[in-house]
Formats: sequence, structure tokens, C-alpha cells
Amino acid sequence: MIENVRVAVVGVGNNTSALVQGLAYYRETGSLVGIHRPEIAGIGVGDVDVVTAFALSDAKVGKDLHEAVFLPPNNFPRLLPELAPSGVSIRRGLVDADGVGRIAAAIEGADVLLYSAPSGRTVTARAYAEAALAARVAFINTTSDPIARDSELLDRFTAAGVPLVGDDLASQFGTSVLHRTLLRLLEERGLTLVSSYQVNLGGTEDFRNLVVNDNTKKQSKLNAVGSDKVDMAPLGYLPQLESNKVAYFNIEAQGWGGTAVSLDLKLKVHDPSGAAGVNIDLVRIAAAARRAGRGGYPAEAAELLKSPPGTMV
Ligand SMILES: NC(=O)c1ccc[n+]([C@@H]2O[C@H](COP(=O)([O-])OP(=O)(O)OC[C@H]3O[C@@H](n4cnc5c(N)ncnc54)[C@H](O)[C@@H]3O)[C@@H](O)[C@H]2O)c1
Repeated sequence: MIENVRVAVVGVGNNTSALVQGLAYYRETGSLVGIHRPEIAGIGVGDVDVVTAFALSDAKVGKDLHEAVFLPPNNFPRLLPELAPSGVSIRRGLVDADGVGRIAAAIEGADVLLYSAPSGRTVTARAYAEAALAARVAFINTTSDPIARDSELLDRFTAAGVPLVGDDLASQFGTSVLHRTLLRLLEERGLTLVSSYQVNLGGTEDFRNLVVNDNTKKQSKLNAVGSDKVDMAPLGYLPQLESNKVAYFNIEAQGWGGTAVSLDLKLKVHDPSGAAGVNIDLVRIAAAARRAGRGGYPAEAAELLKSPPGTMV
């Protein structure tokens, strides 16, 4: 029998809420709705345990994980009426290189460190990656900060036989995959792209942070779409959308005889669900690679990321 995957998480925000609530939901209901891959390398969705969690806010540190996921500013809804205590008491995280040894000691024995803190804090992301490397725990960077795109760091993970997955998860059914697919379809059907744009609006703390603080999200979203004819409107934060993201796409193209083709589309999704649906796969890919002794970047993660190694920062 395969041993359960042991995951340590950094950040007890909306995405961690969606992930841990989802793990309980799928165990309790046995449902497969919303699951992309029931098994990866023989590891089922129910074979994943969150064993350690790090947060910064005083309101969350010391609390049980299953209580903390509902504290503000998290606004992802409840998936089950009751969530029994997890037994995981939240530990204080780090913000810079001070404390790398403490975090490395705390994640000893975990398979994976899932980095799910706010985007735009590269020093912090790097410090957690160093802790994972020191503890020989696979590291997943779900933020747009350049970690797997840092070739020097990736080389060190490869040499140590430790997987490094990143950067920036591409949501399960989000703007990146949808936009990429529509542009591919246009090409497949022989049309010529003239211009295209994406507008993203959301009501989560992630959106607020991305609007207010510097980050590399725009470039990362452009990396995911992979065309220089696409532009991204600045992100918009609208608290009334709560954990929903609303995105609009426009595509202008030319068809037969140069005549105009125009497409406008609206997508509405729970953004943290889109993240959890991918994080559950990234965690199993990273754990399987680590257990097989495959260090560095696992190529099978590429379709789940916006900015894999080699893309622009
Ligand atoms: N679909 C998606 O939601 C999506 C897609 C791609 C990337 N991402 C990225 O995933 C990350 C997580 O998203 P989220 O919606 O959960 O964000 P969030 O803001 O809800 O959660 C982040 C949490 O990390 C905590 N934190 C901040 N600094 C920390 C530190 N040094 N140590 C430990 N915890 C710390 C914050 O207090 C917060 O609770 C973000 O970087 C986001 O940009 C999300």
C-alpha cells in the first residue's frame, strides 16, 4: 500500500481553505465531481494529508487548521456543514532568511512544502524554498514570484535530488487555460489573430494584494497565454465578488477574405477552487517525483503552471 502524502503548507489563505476543505469533502462524500485525475502515480485524492501549516497572522497562529481556514480575510465558502478538528496547530512562518533552519526542522518528514503565501514577496518565497531544500522536501511555488524560473536555484534542487515545481499555478478552469485553448482553436481553424485581451475582476484577498502591491502576475499571465498579440487589463478588486473571479475575454481575428471575426466571453468561477483543483495534482506529482528520487523540475507539471522554468520573469 502507498503511504499517504504528507504536505506542509505555507499560508492559510483562501487556497489552503479550498484545499483542506476539499480533502475532507472528497473523503466524506466519495464524490469525484471536480476531480481532474482520481489517481496520480497510484496516489488518490484521499491519500493526501496536510500535516503542518505556517501562517503569519496572530489570529491564525496556534489555532487548529480547520478553524483558521474560516478566519477573515478568507472568504471561500464552507463545503461541508461541519469540519472536525484537524489536529494540526498552525505554526508561525518566516518572512526572510532568518528562521530557515527552524522551518526546515518543522517540515522534516514531509513529502512536499506547498507555498501558498501572497505573490510579490520573492525574498520570503526564496527563504521557504531554502528550508525545503535543506530538509529535502519537494517545493511547490504557487505564486508568480520567480523560484523555479531561477535557474541557479533549480540547479541546486536538481543536484540534491529534490523536486522544485513552479511558478504560478494555472487554475483548473481559469483564464489561462481558456484563453490559450481559444487561441489554439483559432489557429487550428485557419483564422488570423489580430488582437486580444483579458479583464480579471475578483473579491479575494489575493486580488486585493495583487492590485495594491508590486508583483510579476501580469507577465506570468502573458507567459501562460503565449502570444504577443494578447494584452491584460490591470486586475480589479471588487469585494462584493467575494471568492468569485469574473473574467472577460475579447478576441479579434480575420477569417475568409480578411473579414472580421469577433469573440467576447465571460467566465465566472470560485478562484480558490480553481487553485485547489490544480494544487491537489501538483502535490501528488511532486511527492511521486520525490519518492522516485527525481530531483529538479518534473516536466509533467508544465500544463498546470503559468510560468515554468525558461519563461520570462
Ligand atoms: N486561482 C488562484 O487562486 C491562484 C492562481 C494562481 C496563483 N495563485 C497564488 O496563490 C497564492 C495563494 O492565494 P490565496 O488566494 O490563498 O491568497 P491569500 O492572500 O488568501 O492567502 C495567503 C496567506 O498567506 C499568509 N502569509 C503571508 N505571508 C506569509 C508568510 N511569510 N508565511 C506564512 N504565511 C504567510 C497570509 O496572511 C494569507 O493568509 C497567491 O500568491 C496567489 O497569487 C492563486
